[in-house]
Amino acid sequence: MSQFEAVDPDFTPEQNKTWAELYRRQLPRIQRWAASEYLEGFGPVGIPSDGVPSLDYLTSKIEPMTGWKVIRTHTRYSEADEWYSQMNRKLFLVTDYMREWEELDWTPEPDMFHDIFGHLPYFMLPRYVELFEIFAPAYLSASTDEQRESVKRLAWFSTEFGVKLEDGEKKIFGTGLMSGGDEMDRVMQPDFPLVPFTVENVISKHKVMYEHHDQLFVFESMDEIRADMQSYFETF
Ligand SMILES: [Fe+2]
Repeated sequence: MSQFEAVDPDFTPEQNKTWAELYRRQLPRIQRWAASEYLEGFGPVGIPSDGVPSLDYLTSKIEPMTGWKVIRTHTRYSEADEWYSQMNRKLFLVTDYMREWEELDWTPEPDMFHDIFGHLPYFMLPRYVELFEIFAPAYLSASTDEQRESVKRLAWFSTEFGVKLEDGEKKIFGTGLMSGGDEMDRVMQPDFPLVPFTVENVISKHKVMYEHHDQLFVFESMDEIRADMQSYFETF
C-alpha cells in the first residue's frame, strides 16, 4: 500500500465526475486495443477510476520502477524547451487543466486525463522509458531548428500517436490515442491509412494538433524504432 491518498483532494466533484466518466469510456477500448507494453504497466500503476489521482501517489508508483517523477504544471500546453529540459531530469509534467464535459471523447489540447491515463502506465516499464528518454538529450543537443523539429515529430508520431503491430494485429501505442476515444475508434477502422514508421517518413510529415490525423505511422518493435531514431540523433 502506498502512504499517499490515491485521489487528489484538490479537485472539484465536477472534475472527478469527468475523470470517472473518461475512465469508464476508455477502459474497454484499452483492454481491447492497447499495445502490450501499455497494458503491462496499466494494472501495476493503479490509476484510480473514481477521481483525479494525486501526483504524490503516482510518483510513489513510478519512481521505484524507473526513477521518473510527475510534477504539476499550470500551463495548458508547455513550450518544447521547458518540456524537454524537465524530461531530461526525469520529470514528467502533468497539467491541471481538465477537458469540459462536452469534450469527453476528443480534446485538442492534452489535459490531465491524457497526461495521466495516457502516459503513466508506461512509466512503470524500464524498456519503455529507454525509448522515452532518447528525445530530451537529442532536442537539447540539436543545433538547428530543423533538427529540433525532427525530434518533435519523431516523439509525436511514436510515443504520442504511434500504432503498433503485434502478431499482425493492429494495436494502439500512442498516449494521445489512449486518452481520446473518437480518434482511437477512427484509427482502429480497418481502412485507416498507416505508413511504416521510419525516420525518413516521419520527419517529412507535419504534425497536426488541432484536428484528427489523416495518417499515422506503424511499427512492430519498440526497441527497433528506438535504435533507428538513436542512430539518427547521433548525426546531430
Ligand atoms: Fe502526451
